[in-house]
Amino acid sequence: MTANQSAIPPRTRTATPRRFLMCPPRHFDVTYSINPWMHPGKPVDGRLALRQWEGLRALYKELGHTVLEIDPVLGLPDMVFAANGATVIDGKVLGARFRHVERTAEGPAYLEWFQRQGYEELYWPEYINEGEGDYLVVGGRLLAGTGFRTDQRSHFEAQEFFGLPVTSLQLVNPSYYHLDTVLSVLSADEVAYYPKAFSEGSQAVLRAMFPDAIVATDEDAAVFGLNMLSDGRHVLLPTTATGLARQLAGRGFEPIGVDLTELLKAGGSVKCCTLELRD
Ligand code: ARG
Repeated sequence: MTANQSAIPPRTRTATPRRFLMCPPRHFDVTYSINPWMHPGKPVDGRLALRQWEGLRALYKELGHTVLEIDPVLGLPDMVFAANGATVIDGKVLGARFRHVERTAEGPAYLEWFQRQGYEELYWPEYINEGEGDYLVVGGRLLAGTGFRTDQRSHFEAQEFFGLPVTSLQLVNPSYYHLDTVLSVLSADEVAYYPKAFSEGSQAVLRAMFPDAIVATDEDAAVFGLNMLSDGRHVLLPTTATGLARQLAGRGFEPIGVDLTELLKAGGSVKCCTLELRD
């Protein structure tokens, strides 16, 4: 821990109840490879994946959050990663348009779910964006990743649709292809991130915006530690991200380890499985 980090006294942390959309991994598998974590030859234990996912869902409910579910579609094995399905702010739904043909059918499937639920402001985007994989809300602004999946032109589209300022961030490491694999929002003004996944320019932007951010180590980033979910007090993160858990506890958060090893075989963890419904 740097002198700067240890000088910050822990704040009192309050959880606010959230509404999440999740998709049970009943058809989960690794049958193609669209990121460096995916090895189609390697066996996946579907039952274990489902049990681990149910563990995450149970934890959310125990913590007082609401979990809604969308039915998985046969032939869309990555649909479990609900974070990619849309971006929802103030009840406005920005649909997702996927980069790879293997996932393109998920965009309409998620948008139809929102339509059936009675959401009225739905937007089918012109440019590729992979939902909350690359759009993270912090306070009243959006942090937006680009480089591997979301088209940078989508950032302006999102800004105009939501009427919120958007900060573009350039991702440079193919193992960390979505923003939510290397940056996590902890509260309205705090984040944790892994600097090396960003271009020099974007690192400077992050330092300027969040001078007191938690900085993750190579080890914690490599186990998808930053793919965590904070409710303002509890932070659910991969059990193996022990360094991050310590740093979070030092700031007054309550880290809770979650085991999602089967889903990691597709390159996803806690946050990837969770789409926040900001209604
Ligand atoms: N296999 C999926 C893909 O490559 C994993 C998506 C992970 N989701 C996320 N929000 N980072 O698209």
